[in-house]
Amino acid sequence: SWTMAAFREQAIADIRAKVGSGRVICGLSGGVDSAVAAVLIHEAIGDQLTCIFVDHGLLRQNEAEQVVELFRGSYNIPLVHVQAEDLFVDALTGESDPEVKRKTIGRLFIETFEAEAKKIGGADFLAQGTLYPDVIESVSFTGGPSVTIKSHHNVGGLPERMNMRLVEPLRELFKDEVRALGRELGLPEAFVGRHPFPGPGLAIRCPGGVTRDKLHILRQADAIYLDEIRKAGLYDAIWQAFAVLLPVQTVGVMGDGRTYEFVCALRAVTSVDGMTADFYHYDMDFLGRTATRIINEVRGINRVVYDITSKPPGTIEWE
Ligand code: XMP
Repeated sequence: SWTMAAFREQAIADIRAKVGSGRVICGLSGGVDSAVAAVLIHEAIGDQLTCIFVDHGLLRQNEAEQVVELFRGSYNIPLVHVQAEDLFVDALTGESDPEVKRKTIGRLFIETFEAEAKKIGGADFLAQGTLYPDVIESVSFTGGPSVTIKSHHNVGGLPERMNMRLVEPLRELFKDEVRALGRELGLPEAFVGRHPFPGPGLAIRCPGGVTRDKLHILRQADAIYLDEIRKAGLYDAIWQAFAVLLPVQTVGVMGDGRTYEFVCALRAVTSVDGMTADFYHYDMDFLGRTATRIINEVRGINRVVYDITSKPPGTIEWE
């Protein structure tokens, strides 16, 4: 019968056959897919692999540290950690068009990745954590023949530009299978079970211009929200949950004083593949408790709302 152990063996043999003595570069995003691909490839070809982690400063709280610790610390995989927050945030400040934001991030990501790859002497292969739904989605994501709903940020375009061949060992897998493979490879459960996270990161959860201050506020709210979800034992029942910091300020009252701060929207959906989704039906006590914590603990937010839009007609992300 087909097992993950068997898949692992076969994938390792395939990677070795394809790569030979060539050099491979893998871009880490902080997410599950690229991490599983990298660990699998490292198992196959060892230090012929170098990982490049372009840290765009748009990750959630502590995420970048976790990636670096996992790769350098636990797996001892060669890793270039590029701290590029200034580059990305400066380019995004004052830009509020969602497509321009996505394209700016995509372009800077490719430029940064390419420059770092050159510094280490280039490679013959580019590894990507492309999944089966990504293969399908590049066809059907548009929702029609010529309507692009959102530009998807992955490293599309890079292999051609850099004259590298692709290694995509997860191309036939669905998300739940990638998680099973990650467990098989010994990745920590907290990492493997993570909700999906978009390439453009928190920038698309900060409608309007992105600033360091807004990212700081959003990160804190998001961390509290996820903490409450975990405490309530709901994390695994939800496909994706996150906070969005709205570019709207409202009046509130705190103690004797008037406040005028941002609105935070909470989102949570169930889904099988991200193509369609239903908003998650929390009980109101959970929402009330979470809103109170966010407002009490995060300076800069004085109102919390819950998004009850399903997909379609909404998308999961707000931009
Ligand atoms: P939407 O918002 O289109 O999102 O309903 C569907 C799923 O895709 C994720 N997403 C992305 N993932 N690069 C990614 O790798 C992107 O540019 C991107 N945009 C959205 C989103 O988080 C959800 O899981």
